[in-house]
Amino acid sequence: MKRLLLLLPLLLSANEDFISHYEYGEMLYSNPRGVSCAQCHGQSGEGRVIVEYKDKEGKKAIRGTDIRKETLSQMIQSLNSYHKIMPRYYLTDEEVKAIYDYLQKKNETYLSEFQETNRSK
Ligand code: HEC
Repeated sequence: MKRLLLLLPLLLSANEDFISHYEYGEMLYSNPRGVSCAQCHGQSGEGRVIVEYKDKEGKKAIRGTDIRKETLSQMIQSLNSYHKIMPRYYLTDEEVKAIYDYLQKKNETYLSEFQETNRSK
């Protein structure tokens, strides 16, 4: 019992560390350098319509893409390059990894279902 009590702070701090990494990712995803990823890619990275407009060909929409299945290296590469719509962020690899881990955790169920349907094909 005494041993367990000695271990307890260690266990708690390990847990806290994990939570703060998740929260760090959440914070970065929701508000990196003042422009939220969520604004364009949705709360969980599922993608969303940013704006809808009409031109002579009819109704059009600009979408933030679904980024839930991006790998970490794809994500680092995307965030380190220029895009037509998406701003350039200058996040470090650690910051991108925190965002990536946050999205992986948040979409755990979705991603595991996706892997299963992929496997059964
Ligand atoms: C102003 C809207 C906007 C914001 C804010 C934004 N994105 Fe994007 N993002 C896009 C669009 C649109 C694309 C598709 C490429 C393009 O046309 O810019 C994209 C592409 C990507 C891609 C590559 C995948 C693909 O479909 O091409 C990743 C990864 C990504 N965004 C992650 C992020 C993360 C992480 C953040 C926050 C740090 C973020 N984006 C913020 C609009 C945005």
